[in-house]
Amino acid sequence: MKKLTRRTLLRSSLAAPGVAALSAAATGAEEAQAQGTPAAQTPPGGGRERLLLDFGWRFHLGNASDAAQDFNFRGNFSKTGNFGPVATPQFDDNHWKAVDLPHDWAVELPFQNDPALASKGFYPLGRAYPATSVGWYRRVFQLPASAAGQRISIEFDGAYREALVVLNGFYVGRHIGGYDPFSFDVTDFANPGGLNVLLVRVDATQSDGWFYEGAGIYRHVWLVTTNPVHVKQWGTFVRTEVRPSGDASVRFRTEVKNDGQSDQTVRVTSTILDPAGTAVGKTSGSPASIPFRDEHSYEQQVVVKSPALWSLEQRNLYKLVTEVEVAGAVTDRYHTTFGIRTCTFDAEKGFSLNGKSVKLKGTCNHQDHAGVGAALPDALEYYRLRKLQDMGCNALRTSHNPPTPELLDAADELGMLVFDETRMMSSNPEGLSQFENLVRRDRNHPSVFLWSMGNEEGVAATDRGLLILTAMKQVAARHDGSRLVSIAPLGGGNMGKFGFAACDVQGYNYADPAADAFHKANPTVPVMGTEQVSAVATRGIYKMDPERGYVQSYDPYTTTGRASCEGWWSFCDARPWLAGGFIWTGFDYRGEPSPYGWPNIGSQYGIIDTCGFPKDSFYYFQAWWTGQPVLHLFPHWNWPGLEGQEIAVWVYSNLDRVELFCNGQSLGAKDVKRASHLAWNVKYAPGAIEARGFKGGQPVMTVKRETTGPAAQLAIAADRRELAADGEDTAIFAVEVQDSQGRYAPLADNAVTFRVSGPGRLIGVGNGDPASHESDKGDSRKAFCGRCAAIVQSTRSAGEITVEATSPGLKAASVRVLSKEVKLRPQVAVWEREVPPGEGVSGLWRPASGAGMQIFSLRQNGNALSGTVEGAFGPAGGAPVEIQDGKVESGNISFRAGNATYTGTVNGEQIELQPAFAGGGRGGRGAPAATAPPAEPRPAIGPPPDGSDPSRPQFVGLGGRGPQGPATVVLKRVRR
Ligand code: GAL
Repeated sequence: MKKLTRRTLLRSSLAAPGVAALSAAATGAEEAQAQGTPAAQTPPGGGRERLLLDFGWRFHLGNASDAAQDFNFRGNFSKTGNFGPVATPQFDDNHWKAVDLPHDWAVELPFQNDPALASKGFYPLGRAYPATSVGWYRRVFQLPASAAGQRISIEFDGAYREALVVLNGFYVGRHIGGYDPFSFDVTDFANPGGLNVLLVRVDATQSDGWFYEGAGIYRHVWLVTTNPVHVKQWGTFVRTEVRPSGDASVRFRTEVKNDGQSDQTVRVTSTILDPAGTAVGKTSGSPASIPFRDEHSYEQQVVVKSPALWSLEQRNLYKLVTEVEVAGAVTDRYHTTFGIRTCTFDAEKGFSLNGKSVKLKGTCNHQDHAGVGAALPDALEYYRLRKLQDMGCNALRTSHNPPTPELLDAADELGMLVFDETRMMSSNPEGLSQFENLVRRDRNHPSVFLWSMGNEEGVAATDRGLLILTAMKQVAARHDGSRLVSIAPLGGGNMGKFGFAACDVQGYNYADPAADAFHKANPTVPVMGTEQVSAVATRGIYKMDPERGYVQSYDPYTTTGRASCEGWWSFCDARPWLAGGFIWTGFDYRGEPSPYGWPNIGSQYGIIDTCGFPKDSFYYFQAWWTGQPVLHLFPHWNWPGLEGQEIAVWVYSNLDRVELFCNGQSLGAKDVKRASHLAWNVKYAPGAIEARGFKGGQPVMTVKRETTGPAAQLAIAADRRELAADGEDTAIFAVEVQDSQGRYAPLADNAVTFRVSGPGRLIGVGNGDPASHESDKGDSRKAFCGRCAAIVQSTRSAGEITVEATSPGLKAASVRVLSKEVKLRPQVAVWEREVPPGEGVSGLWRPASGAGMQIFSLRQNGNALSGTVEGAFGPAGGAPVEIQDGKVESGNISFRAGNATYTGTVNGEQIELQPAFAGGGRGGRGAPAATAPPAEPRPAIGPPPDGSDPSRPQFVGLGGRGPQGPATVVLKRVRR
């Protein structure tokens, strides 16, 4: 029996029974092709552990301009290891919000009608909004004692942006870019065998782009431990070449680092596992000596006989297992997934995969989805790719930044080509490092077929642009060399010139005539469209409505007079030399509201809305990009008040001929022209329009749009039937408002409330309305043109998740999915301070004022009191000190801890304590005293009468009154 893995479930996509009409677009043939992943079955080892560090974080907004509201952050670099109270284990983060990663705080903010925020989707981020532009993340975790002697790193897949990382009070480093991954070796700052506090301050005041980018740690974080001699991060590179014989030469480069204390002789053994997990090649080169704190690059090669090639249809994935050996012992075992395929560009034939011509039917996409903003759970990456595949899209441009690694995993596994783009076009250290990170991280993904060095950079069309792009190209050549490079230019007027001369494939944005002219003049240079169309449409809307911010869905309505969907595709389709191109965009996204500003908060360029609901043009592409028969008829047929007036009725179809009927009357049949649409003007009368499609003279399909009654009921469908019970997996629940006969109600805007029962939680809602100002984080959403959606995430408990949609006056609907037990990904355990159970005052207590960062961990047993006091002695906190002689009796409490004695009263959920310190009297040098001497009046001028030092920490740390003695401490009960 096939073993259930998280990956298998991620790739699965099944419509829930009885609601196929809603989710038909989400179904695919993927399940049939999904295989167990050898990677998941290959035991790790060699001392390497890569643990997900996503769960159990705490989050609090800081402030970009007021240190007092920013945990007193003023730089905090004056002394090593002394970052401040917020970095200590005792810091009180009870009032911080519990969050799991990926997390985007921007999408939780209220919209603000400020034109300066248009690009941000009107979320208050930036200089004018310091109170919502900085976020702090804290994660306390336990490191096993066995981590001592190992190298410990924290890897961030990406954070938006300017992340400052602190571990155990030690400033570890900063990273500026919002998209490229970064990691820090924290070995010297970690506490193996003890508690560790990881603190990340993220500052989203500045921007990387001109579109919604989110804010926060919106990608995964990993804790990686290795032996001192180990493979570097992204330190393997597999380069494959298919020979004319059909065999493949597979070359490996392995970069090994010696972080130990002495030189080491190191051998590398590389084993290839085929898609079934069988070893099909192995090589073990001669050992090399690596000086300590140095590294060495190993080059090896094997031949794989008759390999199973990776293609869009057969996603055969191989695995490289790299073993690093010192003195006969394996010190590291590293896994790399790769595919064997050839990608070629030809000036006459366009792009070919494995020698077979493939027209690039691409879309550009930002990382942004309804309900979650930029923080996409992995399952959403798969969902989005499947949606794009449903319309026949086979290529994706990661505009305008490095994608998540999971998007590339999804592309490898589902079969999608990726034009992988860096954010910063520059040869400055940051630009080169961003591009290097991208190339090194992504170079083994078979889906990645071309590197993009940027987008619409004016400087690219200058001599300086040539210098910059040449330097960037060298980075790609050094770390990859198997892929070509390109860039998306501003237009196409300078193709082949200036910086573009450094590009192997000449791209162009929108300028079709310029591409034609370039090809004519340069018939030996490959050309690919890098960005096309930019047509806007609002799903379900057929009339321009600037006031409400809606655009009609008849193609074309472009913001800039650029090509329509049909204009672009008929141009591309007719030119075999053109490799294809990338439509702006697959999905709608927040920010860049177009063509209007407020009330629009998002773009309308998508062929699919922010939730995943297709717009009409989706079916245009489905007709001309897939082999399946398509017959799509629009608009809807609910036009009260327009009786007798003409309505344009369009059909997208790839059948031979279509006949249109209105209320049973034929309005004539028309032949379908390749890459085109059909249109009739029809006088509106309530009833139905119907299109009948013919193939080879035979009627093969019919589609109807009926005048529907008022909203009466809801229907709900899930995109998947089964989820992994791992607290990460998600399903999309799409709601459709219907009339009493179960027909889609296209005008419905009823408010829908979602209720989740069972082991799942609602993480976001959306409706695709580009002008909706409802929050994506509530539990209800108005339907927009009859539809809305919710995203539900599994918990770690297996069981049935039921999602119910209700709306006042409408019949409710519900659907069930099964959350299945899976092996959790290796991950760092969530840490919670132990709350002592028991009677009375048993529990955790902290000073209500927050001063002193003390934690009283009390355990009452009858009248006896035990426990600990932590962090009492000094501003940076201290280890827990045992409570002695503890008593609770008739509302009175007393105990000793260290050199302090506490007496006080218990008053419900409040304890008032009077501390007294031994050694506090007579200058602190006298014999320890059980209680502080009674406070004497202090003279107006002169030292404290008891001779004590008023600056002593027990006074300062406790907010004490100096010579008057320590203040009364009022404790409140806390959870951590
Ligand atoms: C392009 C640009 C995209 C987007 C688009 C809107 O020029 O590359 O990022 O702004 O215009 O039409």
